[in-house]
Amino acid sequence: MSGKQLGFDGEGFKVPDLDQPPEILFKTLKSPLWSEHKAKLIERYLYYFVQITHHGTYIDGFAGPQTSEAPDAWAAKLVIESRPRWLRKFFLCDLGTKQVEALERLVTEQPPRDKARKEPKREFKIRRGDFNEEVAILLNSGWVPDTQAAFCLLD
Ligand SMILES: C[S@@+](CC[C@H](N)C(=O)[O-])C[C@H]1O[C@@H](n2cnc3c(N)ncnc32)[C@H](O)[C@@H]1O
Repeated sequence: MSGKQLGFDGEGFKVPDLDQPPEILFKTLKSPLWSEHKAKLIERYLYYFVQITHHGTYIDGFAGPQTSEAPDAWAAKLVIESRPRWLRKFFLCDLGTKQVEALERLVTEQPPRDKARKEPKREFKIRRGDFNEEVAILLNSGWVPDTQAAFCLLD
C-alpha cells in the first residue's frame, strides 16, 4: 500500500487512480498555438507599423488560411481587420484555388471604409500563382512605389 490515499495529497494536488483510464483534461487545439501567436504578433507589428507610417502596403506571398477552422491563426485576416485601417494596399497571393477563394471571401466581407474616421480607400490584389514568379511581376509593375512603406510576409 502506498503512503498516499486516493483523492488529494497533502499539498492539494489530485492523486490519480492509476487503475482507471486517465481523465481527458484538454481539448484538442484547432491549430497549433504558435500559429495563433505568430498571426497575432504579425497583426500587432503592423499595428505599430501604421502608427508610424499612417499608410502602407501589405504583401503576403502565402496568404491563404492554413486551416478554415482557426480564423484567429490567419495572418492576412487579422491584418486586414486590424484597426486603425490605415494600410492602403494589399497584395495577397496563394497557389491554391480554395485558398484564393477564401481570400476573395475575406476581402468581400470587409465593411466599407469609414470616411468620418478618415479611413483611406483600400486596394486589394489577389493572385493565384507561385509567389516566386508573382513577386517579380508585382515589383516590376510599379504598384508598390518606392516612396511607400511595405511589409512582406512569407509564411
Ligand atoms: C502555411 S500556409 C499559409 C498560412 C498563412 N500565412 C496563415 O497565416 O494562415 C502556406 C500556404 O502557402 C501556399 N503556397 C505554397 N507554395 C506556394 C507558392 N510557391 N506560392 C504561393 N503560395 C504557395 C499554400 O497553398 C498554403 O496556402
